[in-house]
Amino acid sequence: MGEIKKIAVLTSGGDAPGMNSAIRAITRSALEKGIEVYGIYDGYRGLVENNIEKLDHYSVSNIAYFGGTILGSARLPEFANDDVAKVGADNLKKLGVDALVAIGGDGTYKGAEKLSKFGIKVVGVPGTIDNDIASTEVTIGFDSAVTTAVNALDAIRDTANSHGRCQILEVMGRYCPDISYAAGIASGCDIIINSDTGLDMDAIIKQVKYCKDNKHKHVLICVAEHMCDVHQLAKDIESQTGYVTRATVLGHTQRGGRPTAFDRILATRLGVAAVDAICNGQTNVCVGNKGNEIMVYSFAEAFSMKKNMFAKYAVSLNDSVR
Ligand code: F6P
Repeated sequence: MGEIKKIAVLTSGGDAPGMNSAIRAITRSALEKGIEVYGIYDGYRGLVENNIEKLDHYSVSNIAYFGGTILGSARLPEFANDDVAKVGADNLKKLGVDALVAIGGDGTYKGAEKLSKFGIKVVGVPGTIDNDIASTEVTIGFDSAVTTAVNALDAIRDTANSHGRCQILEVMGRYCPDISYAAGIASGCDIIINSDTGLDMDAIIKQVKYCKDNKHKHVLICVAEHMCDVHQLAKDIESQTGYVTRATVLGHTQRGGRPTAFDRILATRLGVAAVDAICNGQTNVCVGNKGNEIMVYSFAEAFSMKKNMFAKYAVSLNDSVR
């Protein structure tokens, strides 16, 4: 690849705490190498609408500790259509951009791969609270979302203890079980319900009854979204066990708030790695972590990878299978 003069960066899909650190790292490490940097607002929508602005050193000052993304984000399912993606690719070509860094989740990576088919050089950086990208052990935002969920579970435990109740917390994650596993494990939940464990009503009732019979002060249940209506689950548990049960849906609080130090550091390392990859001629790839190492994979490799960090704990930690 010839000398890199201009790159662009966007954030797309659901925002995630830590995205700002990634934008900062990409911008500053590229400027340091004498590369111009352009910020694209509102993800692929801004790319198609040509909502693009040059960034300088100070555009990314004082942002590392803010949640959200200073570039804005959007979901644009239409970007899967060739004619829409081509408009975006043409805008980048007109601007003379040598490569694009796309920060986001699965949909963002698919969009990036699509752009590569129109001759755009792209690097993907994994930013999503869901942790559903297999080419990285941890996505930017996951640790912050889990921390928010753990804080919520800790708070809910207090009131569950005082009242001797069963409390259910629904967490996000789309169809990935990781937030429910990590938060449930960190909080010592009695039951974790997600796409791995399934929703085994008999086992749940058995476990809640066990806790009641053994005079536990509370029962704490962490449920991944899309598994069930947690308010109905609360009614069913209460009617079948006599244990007063309440449900809380944590929702979008998990998507915002200050990123944890872990996320800021991970985002910085991955952002720097994305710029390094471009300068080394590695494009149409995505970066990720494997333990302490930073890895670079082609999109094809990334899409074929699988991970399940927590499955092996499912049986041993889920008391409901007791
Ligand atoms: O992908 C992040 C995520 O927060 C998922 O956990 C959740 O299912 C989804 O986005 C919610 O999307 P939206 O904010 O568009 O409703």
